[in-house]
Amino acid sequence: MELKKAKISAVGHYLPEYRLTNFELEKMVDTNDEWIRTRTGIKERRILKDPDKASAYMGAEAAKEALESAGVDPKEIDLIIVATVTPDYLFPATACLVQEMIGASNAFAFDLSAACSGFVYALTTGSTFVESGNAKKVLVIGSDKMSSIIDYTDRTTCILFGDGAGAVLLEESDDETGILDSIHHTEGDTNCSLYQHAGGSRNPATIETVQAKQHVISQDGRAVFKKATMGMADVSLEIMEKNNLSADDVAWLVPHQANLRIIDATANRMGLTSEKVMINIDRYGNTTAATIPLCLYDWKNKLNKGNNLVLAAFGGGFTWGAVYVKWSI
Ligand SMILES: CC(C)(COP(=O)(O)OP(=O)(O)OC[C@H]1O[C@@H](n2cnc3c(N)ncnc32)[C@H](O)[C@@H]1OP(=O)(O)O)[C@@H](O)C(=O)NCCC(=O)NCCS
Repeated sequence: MELKKAKISAVGHYLPEYRLTNFELEKMVDTNDEWIRTRTGIKERRILKDPDKASAYMGAEAAKEALESAGVDPKEIDLIIVATVTPDYLFPATACLVQEMIGASNAFAFDLSAACSGFVYALTTGSTFVESGNAKKVLVIGSDKMSSIIDYTDRTTCILFGDGAGAVLLEESDDETGILDSIHHTEGDTNCSLYQHAGGSRNPATIETVQAKQHVISQDGRAVFKKATMGMADVSLEIMEKNNLSADDVAWLVPHQANLRIIDATANRMGLTSEKVMINIDRYGNTTAATIPLCLYDWKNKLNKGNNLVLAAFGGGFTWGAVYVKWSI
C-alpha cells in the first residue's frame, strides 16, 4: 500500500496583547536590557494576563484562525494534538478542552509533552495519521502559557520565556509538496538540567513545595545551552544530508527560539545566511511549543509553494528533532 503524504494547508496563531519588555524586567530583577539582548536576542515577550485564560484558550484561538483561513468546518477535524508543558490541568488534556472550545465534535484529542520540541514531535505524529489514512484532517497546536511556571524573582529564567500559541492544519497532499521527512531524538535527562520539580506524581503539591518555589522552571542554563547548540545543529545537518539538501536548496530554517546564539550556531553549521532564518525571539521570547508555528504564521506571506523548510528544535527531556517540509500553500 502506498503511503499518503501530509501537507500543512493552513496556519493560525494567538499572542496575548501585553508586552513585557526588558526595561520592565529591569524593575523586577537585577538585570538589564543590554545583557538580555546580547545573551539571548530577546527584547520583549507577550504575557497572558487574564487569569481565566490559559493554554487551551490560546490554542483554540490559533486553531480557529487556521480553520477559518482554510475554510474548513471544525466538525471535519479528525484529530487534535496539543503540544504543551503548561496544560490547563494535568488532566483532562488541553487538547480535549480545545476540541470543545472550537466545536470539533468529531475529533479525538490528546496532548503531547516534549517541551520545546513539542511542536516538531507533534507535527510528525499528526502527519503519520494522515499518511496512514487514519485521519484526513488534523490540527497540530503548540500552546504554552510559560508565565504560569516562571518565578519572576529568578533572573536566570524569567527573562527567557513568553506566552503564545500557533496551529497548523494537516491534510493529505496531492502533489510533491508536504511533510517529507523527520528525525527525532531523546536523551533522558535524569539529572534534571531543565525541569519543573513539583506538581507531578514524584513530588505532589504540598505547602512545602509551594513555599520552596518548586512549581516553576528550574534550569542549568549553561548545560542546556551546550546541549541545545549541539543537538539543533546536528539534527539539522542530519536531515539535510539524509535528503541530499545543500544550503542552496534550503529556503528557510525555522528554528525553535530559545536563544539567538543557538539559532546562529545552527544556521552557521548548515551554511545558511541570516536572511534564510526565521527569527521571532526578539518579539516573543521563548514560547516553548509555540515558537515554530508562530514563525510559520509570521512568515506565511513570504513563503512560496515548493520552498524547502527545515524545522528544528531542542528542548527539555532532552528532546530534539528536525522536520523537512516542502511548503504547500
Ligand atoms: C540562560 C542563558 C541565556 C544564560 O546565558 P549565559 O551566557 O549562559 O550566562 P551564564 O549562565 O553563564 O551567566 C553569566 C553571568 O550572567 C549572570 N546572569 C544570569 N542571568 C542574568 C540576567 N538575567 N541579567 C544579568 N546577569 C545575568 C549570571 O549570574 C552569571 O554571572 P557570574 O558570571 O557572576 O556567575 C543561556 O545559558 C541559555 O540560553 N541557555 C539555554 C536556554 C535554553 O535553551 N532553554 C530552553 C531549552 S529549549
